[in-house]
Amino acid sequence: MAKTFREASATNVSDSIKSVLHEERVFNPSDEFSEEARISSLRRYKTLRRLAEKDPEKFWGNIAADLHWFTPWKKLLSWRAPHAKWFTGGKTNLSYNCLDRHLNSWKKTKAAIIWEGEPGDVRTLTYQQLHSEVCKFANGLESLGVKKGDTVGIYMGMVPEAAIAMLACTRIGAVHNVVFGGFSAEALRERMNDSNAKVLITQDGSYRRGGIVELKKAADEAAKKIPTLEHMIVLKRTDNEVMMKRKRDHWWNDLMLNASANHGAARLNSEHPLYILYTSGSTGKPKGIFHTTAGNMLWAYYTTRMVFDIQDDDVYWCSADIGWVTGHSYVVYGPLLNGATTLMYEGAPNWPEPDRFWEVIERHKVSIFYTAPTAIRAFMRWGDEHPQKHDLSSLRLLGTVGEPINPKAWMWYHRLIGGKNCPIVDTWWQTETGGIMISPLPGVTPTKPGSATLPLPGIQADVVRKDGTSCNPDEGGYLVIKHPWPSMLRTLFGDDKRYKETYWSNYKGWYFTGDGARKDKDGYFWVMGRVDDVVNVSGHRLGTAEIESSLVSHRAVVESAVVARPDEIKGNALVAFVTLGSKMKPSAALKETLRSHVGREIGSIAKPDEIRFAEALPKTRSGKIMRRLLREIASTGQVSGDITTLEDFSVLEELREE
Ligand code: PRX
Repeated sequence: MAKTFREASATNVSDSIKSVLHEERVFNPSDEFSEEARISSLRRYKTLRRLAEKDPEKFWGNIAADLHWFTPWKKLLSWRAPHAKWFTGGKTNLSYNCLDRHLNSWKKTKAAIIWEGEPGDVRTLTYQQLHSEVCKFANGLESLGVKKGDTVGIYMGMVPEAAIAMLACTRIGAVHNVVFGGFSAEALRERMNDSNAKVLITQDGSYRRGGIVELKKAADEAAKKIPTLEHMIVLKRTDNEVMMKRKRDHWWNDLMLNASANHGAARLNSEHPLYILYTSGSTGKPKGIFHTTAGNMLWAYYTTRMVFDIQDDDVYWCSADIGWVTGHSYVVYGPLLNGATTLMYEGAPNWPEPDRFWEVIERHKVSIFYTAPTAIRAFMRWGDEHPQKHDLSSLRLLGTVGEPINPKAWMWYHRLIGGKNCPIVDTWWQTETGGIMISPLPGVTPTKPGSATLPLPGIQADVVRKDGTSCNPDEGGYLVIKHPWPSMLRTLFGDDKRYKETYWSNYKGWYFTGDGARKDKDGYFWVMGRVDDVVNVSGHRLGTAEIESSLVSHRAVVESAVVARPDEIKGNALVAFVTLGSKMKPSAALKETLRSHVGREIGSIAKPDEIRFAEALPKTRSGKIMRRLLREIASTGQVSGDITTLEDFSVLEELREE
């Protein structure tokens, strides 16, 4: 990205994708697992698929009937591509369905959340207790003037209060915008401003690897330039000293002190805004993925039930952070909608020792564990002795999400963690889809290491060529969804044009995922990764343009291009090619300065692993940086593809020599 030029094109679909992975192993669910599973035969799965296609009213109606509606919905779907409305005429409330619905049964005293802090403190909140806390906090928010439709920012670590805050927002009908606690003040500010946040909820600090992440300090820094912000609510967690601004800032506990433990759930229209969650796209500015109430609720409920086969006595642990979509749908909403017990853990997987996760599983007798391939690869590297020290026999089901899982990691997970006994659900989905789209059903689907297998009933996925025709078996192409689904994003907040361009301009009426994939002869989906300028690092989606624009904002830099090269642990590592201003001298110190600069602007996850200074970047005659060449140079040191469109060949020679 050059200083004066920001590329803002729709996602590029190039001509062909080659798949190189071949995997023949197949694992069937054990009879023991299948017999107890909610869906236990392939016939039933096929019946559901057919029902969803032939009689959608009945299919979706059956699922919706499990949930509470203040007013029943009238129309299932209004679809004027690319805008969908689901369950119109209906009134419901997500917080009510997560909490109140369970209070008339034995679940009232069941653990809703089991939480373990990094220092080892443990808390359990029953459904009754969680309900009271949520009501009190909803009253607290209202006492600060929060109303239906207002945006509330949440910038917290993994503490139960983060879930309480989310549920309190949905109880009122306020729209939450959760920002990952690892993001910088600058990233927080941008997301708060883009969503017009009125209140920001944070904590003094959060524990991470024995240290303290000073969230309030970053929130203060951000708040200097958030004109819409009226109040901040601060949870005391780490007791580090913080600045409290009079009138603006309030301690969480003070707000809760005299608040009533009753608060009615607002009767919200099905399409009432539920949350905005920012994610990276192929241009510099993060995208505000905008989700609405009923569809998201229904899909979180249904997919948790089907994919995790969640039962009353399960202890379910999704290790994702609340700042990502997985934390929304599968730490908080999905499990609570099902009246399940969800475990939250505050800290890092390798603190104080690399066996912390296995210790947590043993201590709380976790039965379902859902994590990311990048974590699995790190566990592999840390050594088999860590899981082997622990009794993991409570586990009955494993899941992965966030990026393609390489078969070697899949096999390790299967053997070392699952004891060869647990089905693995490899779930493909995105922030935009709101919930799981392609995944095995654990009691039914034979799994193949590395494949997310088949679309869930109700989801019409396909792999197509550039011209929209379906690919042949094993032919690489583009992953599309051909029919709207209830939890799909409704738009990009404040930017419907970009919504249309990014997702709906490549194929008329179909949602383009941005992923390359192939289907094998059994119809199994093998997702190969992004085809646009978005990279997946440690299971987190980063837009290379975002990092480039951060680099060029440094005074030493004139131009930069960020690409990914394969990395054993992180999936991808980031390599930044940087052209310096004429008066600047390349040095190791400058590389470090630039890395820290990106860390400050976006967050540590976006820091390039490697910075390479280049006199110039390879460009086409029309001035576009040829990232394909940079990717090749970063991964192999060589360029083998076509370079006929390159403007200046000497550039390439210099890069090779570097
Ligand atoms: O490229 C796909 C990859 O992660 C992208 C979505 O990232 P994000 O919106 O951050 O959501 C992550 C959690 C849902 C997808 O476009 N991805 C996600 N899950 C898988 C995957 N790639 C392959 N297999 C998966 N199971």
